[in-house]
Amino acid sequence: MRIIELPSYEQISRAAADAIAYQLRRKPDSVLGLCTGTTPLGAYELLGEMCRAGQADFSRVTTFNLDEYCGLEASSPDSYHSFMHANLFSKINIDPANTHLPSCEGEAAAQAACDAYERAIEQAGGIDLQLLGIGGNGHIGFNEPSDVISDITHVVRLTESTIKANSRLFGGEEAKVPRTAVTMGVGTILRACRIVLICGAGKYEILQKAAAGPITPQVPASLLRLHPDCTVWCERQAHKM
Ligand code: PGA
Repeated sequence: MRIIELPSYEQISRAAADAIAYQLRRKPDSVLGLCTGTTPLGAYELLGEMCRAGQADFSRVTTFNLDEYCGLEASSPDSYHSFMHANLFSKINIDPANTHLPSCEGEAAAQAACDAYERAIEQAGGIDLQLLGIGGNGHIGFNEPSDVISDITHVVRLTESTIKANSRLFGGEEAKVPRTAVTMGVGTILRACRIVLICGAGKYEILQKAAAGPITPQVPASLLRLHPDCTVWCERQAHKM
C-alpha cells in the first residue's frame, strides 16, 4: 500500500480524477469500479469537467459500483443508483447500459443476483481500476469488520456505526437507514488490477490502523495491503505517521 499525503481535499480529488483520466487514455474501454459517499464527490465533479473539456472520454467505459442498500428502489433518491446518476453518470458521456450497481430484492433472489454481478464483472474482463473510500470502522464497500474475509458479492447486515454514520444522508434519521446492503466482497475488490483509495482528514485513526496495524478482516481496509498496486491519497491530517 502506497500512501501519499496531500495538503487538501481538492488535491486528493484532483489526484483521483487524474488517475481515472489517465487510465482511460491508456485503455479507452476500461472497466472502472466506483464508490459512493462524500469523499469521491470532488473527483466526480472534476471528471464531469474533464469530460466536458474533452480530457476524459467515457464512451467505451464500463462501470461496476461497490454496493447498494437492500430494500430501496433503484429510483429512490436515497439509493446509490440515484447517487451515481446525480453525481457522475449524468455529467459524463457514459452509456447508461454500461453502468452497473448490485441489486438486492428479496433475500432468496439476492444471492442469485450477487452471483450474476460477479459473473458480469468477469465477463467484462475484470476491473482495471477500483476507486474506494474507507468507512470510520475500516469498511471497504460495505464489507464491515468481521472474523471472515468475504470473497464475492454478498448481502451484509450493516453495523450500528455505519448506520449512524450514513444517517446524515437520510436527513439524520437512523431509523430510515436500511439495515442490510449488498456489496462486492473483499475478494472482488482485491481482484481489481489497480486500487485507488481516497481518504479525508476525518479518517486519520482508521487509516493508521489499516496501514500499520495487523492485516485482519476486523479492519477490512488493512486487507488492501495484500494488493500489489494500491495507492492511498489522504489529506495530510489523515496520516501523521
Ligand atoms: P465517506 O464514506 O466517503 O462518506 O466518508 C466512505 C465509506 O463509508 O466507505
